[in-house]
Amino acid sequence: MRSGGAESRDLRTTSEGPGKRQASEEKNMAGLLRQLYGHIGALVITIWACIKFFLPSAKKSVANDIVLVTGAGSGIGRLIAINFAKLGAKLVLWDIDKAGMQGTAEMIAAVGGTAHCYECDVRKKDMVYSVAEKVKEEVGDVAILVNNAGVVAGKRLLDCPDELIERTMDVNTMAIFWTVKAFLPSMIANNHGHLVTIASMAGSIGAVGLVEYCASKFAAVGLHESLMLELVADNVNGVHTTLVQPIKINTGMFDGMKDAPGIPTLEPQYVADKVVEAVLTNQKQLCLPKIAYLFSYLKSWMPVDAMIHIAKYSDSLDLMDSFVGRQKKDS
Ligand SMILES: NC(=O)c1ccc[n+]([C@@H]2O[C@H](COP(=O)([O-])OP(=O)(O)OC[C@H]3O[C@@H](n4cnc5c(N)ncnc54)[C@H](O)[C@@H]3O)[C@@H](O)[C@H]2O)c1
Repeated sequence: MRSGGAESRDLRTTSEGPGKRQASEEKNMAGLLRQLYGHIGALVITIWACIKFFLPSAKKSVANDIVLVTGAGSGIGRLIAINFAKLGAKLVLWDIDKAGMQGTAEMIAAVGGTAHCYECDVRKKDMVYSVAEKVKEEVGDVAILVNNAGVVAGKRLLDCPDELIERTMDVNTMAIFWTVKAFLPSMIANNHGHLVTIASMAGSIGAVGLVEYCASKFAAVGLHESLMLELVADNVNGVHTTLVQPIKINTGMFDGMKDAPGIPTLEPQYVADKVVEAVLTNQKQLCLPKIAYLFSYLKSWMPVDAMIHIAKYSDSLDLMDSFVGRQKKDS
């Protein structure tokens, strides 16, 4: 049987003839060269990215662009919206918290900007689509979409009610599908746009007491990264993307959570400034603080047991034990 198989293989090879064999070898060689070119290119781009990391970059203008921020009624969403308004952008604010959103609109008016408020629960797909249509009719095409709305349950998985798991997945992940589907087509048509996903370092590294939150943020990171590649595959060069992955920010959302050893809580204004700067410079990924870039890198090659060892001996397994979450809205 074996020799029969070998014989038929030989016959096939012979029937291909020297011309076909040569063509196939040339094809393989071309494929190898293409791969080599890809790897050398990647190395050059990596070195250039490392250099650029420390250099100031040119900034684009967002004056008169329509910027939509979800969860703009408090925290970094509010501050990002105000920062864009100061740069002359026209703001569209979405939140379920009407009073918070109104507060943001007043702050925007105080810096001479304009803001349009829409009450929108991003968990509700139909509401996202209908409010998006209203925005298009009443304000215009959104150029910069900041998916910022986010929630956390702050409970260990077995103590977490199903409704809270669903809420986190719906707000932190599913909403991004709906808003992107609503606003990306006009960005592509205009070849002008920017998608910003406010994820988290919890989208790259798991944590105790944050199972549903990490799951939602890992999903948001995967969604963002794949979408970015789809834009590349489709040669859409006028729509940019920025993935934001901060550690803990002092907005109230994670009140009570212990700081990770050696990593202080970030100030909201610092994060908002960095996010807007990343958009202005078309930066594709922003990890905050800078040392956070190292976490993903270490995780990419370290054995899982080594990561567990670090988590244990850096006292990172009980960070959420004292979590209380947002007790009050910031002003
Ligand atoms: N605070 C942190 O430590 C931290 C760290 C990393 C990433 N993040 C992410 O940053 C983003 C903003 O967080 P924050 O700290 O400013 O929180 P925040 O609680 O101050 O703001 C979140 C906003 O989202 C709104 N929101 C919640 N559910 C909504 C819904 N269904 N529809 C519309 N709006 C809704 C809230 O009303 C609120 O105004 C979130 O995505 C969060 O996961 C926060």
